[in-house]
Amino acid sequence: MTKNIAILGSQFGDEGKGKIIDYLSEKADVVCRFAGGNNAGHTIVVDGKQVILHLIPSGILHKGKINVVGNGTVIDPKVLFAEIEGLQKNGIEVTPESLVISENAHVILPEHVDEDKKTGGKIGTTGRGIGPAYAAKVSRRGLRVVNYIDKNHEYSEKLRPFVKDVSLLMDQFLNENKKILFEGAQGTLLDIDHGTYPYVTSSNSTVGGICTGLGIAPKKIDKVIGITKAYVTRVGNGPFPTEIKGELGESLRKVGKEFGATTGRPRSIGWFDALISKYAARINGFDAIIITKLDVLSGQGKLKICTGYKYKGKVIENFTTNSEILENCELVYEELDGWEEDISKATKYEELPENAKRYLKRIEKIVKVPICIVSVGPGRKQTIILKKEFLF
Ligand code: IMP
Repeated sequence: MTKNIAILGSQFGDEGKGKIIDYLSEKADVVCRFAGGNNAGHTIVVDGKQVILHLIPSGILHKGKINVVGNGTVIDPKVLFAEIEGLQKNGIEVTPESLVISENAHVILPEHVDEDKKTGGKIGTTGRGIGPAYAAKVSRRGLRVVNYIDKNHEYSEKLRPFVKDVSLLMDQFLNENKKILFEGAQGTLLDIDHGTYPYVTSSNSTVGGICTGLGIAPKKIDKVIGITKAYVTRVGNGPFPTEIKGELGESLRKVGKEFGATTGRPRSIGWFDALISKYAARINGFDAIIITKLDVLSGQGKLKICTGYKYKGKVIENFTTNSEILENCELVYEELDGWEEDISKATKYEELPENAKRYLKRIEKIVKVPICIVSVGPGRKQTIILKKEFLF
């Protein structure tokens, strides 16, 4: 029986984690954020209504779930309470029973936001103060939540009831065999250590971040699942080998509604990059992957999968974060026939067109990780389950 599941982005973020976490939350007891802050934007569509969560775990949309924000995150109290109010306006209750904040998380201060706005342009940050808050933490001059609520800060009183010792609480949940979802933010290639540095975020969005960001042991993590878009997108600056420029990129951006959930910026679009997916599977130890937004590829003509980077006459089959190679390589592509049918109403694998099945099979074969879910639209019902054994 699956006890807990980590859901991690395997590309540059925006893989559709919000929808999947929301879907899986139904059967979970606890949903946890372990890294990042309100740079994330998890878009969820419930009953046709769109909700965007930035910091609060997506489990908040289901009644009776415990949502945990771990010590590895950075918290802007003003944004947190604006998010809580927004949810409450939509009839979603947020109480100290449904939301827990780690006393050891670090606070994003107004000066961090100012600094990010001034200096984040080169990287193309979200301007939310994430980098400067983590910089303060690492250089040991940061402000932890526990110290923030002890002093007379603007949101101290409001924040205090939500603040707990999260590692202790997680241990209790694990001992009680609660079903836990670890909600990744950003993606493998935005990880501070394993991403395309310096075009990355300032935390570990890969699997190790779960342990350090919540205070739990590695052996407690049961299933690790990678969320993988059927193509690739990137927002912000940095290398993007399979980027599609021109009309086709525009068309995919429109159909896929590829605009940043936090900043509204247009995302760059690219072909499926098998090197990235293999790399993410290796770094995170994926047991399975979930392919999202397959519906966006309907009617787009021939599809391409990148299987190698040709650099100085040699074909490289393993991803590298070396920007010299990423920016100057030639891409080795496999071409596959696409499909015309609208697949957004498919509820079973058998209902997918043969070419869509072939596309999925090819990905599975190259990445060498089974696909457990295929998502064909933003709604909860647009979810095709292939392998239940990786899920609750
Ligand atoms: P920061 O996290 O705001 O410092 O931004 C650093 C980089 O990560 C920029 O390229 C951002 O666009 C990117 N980034 C941060 N959060 C997300 C996210 O949730 N989705 C996609 N990109 C993100």
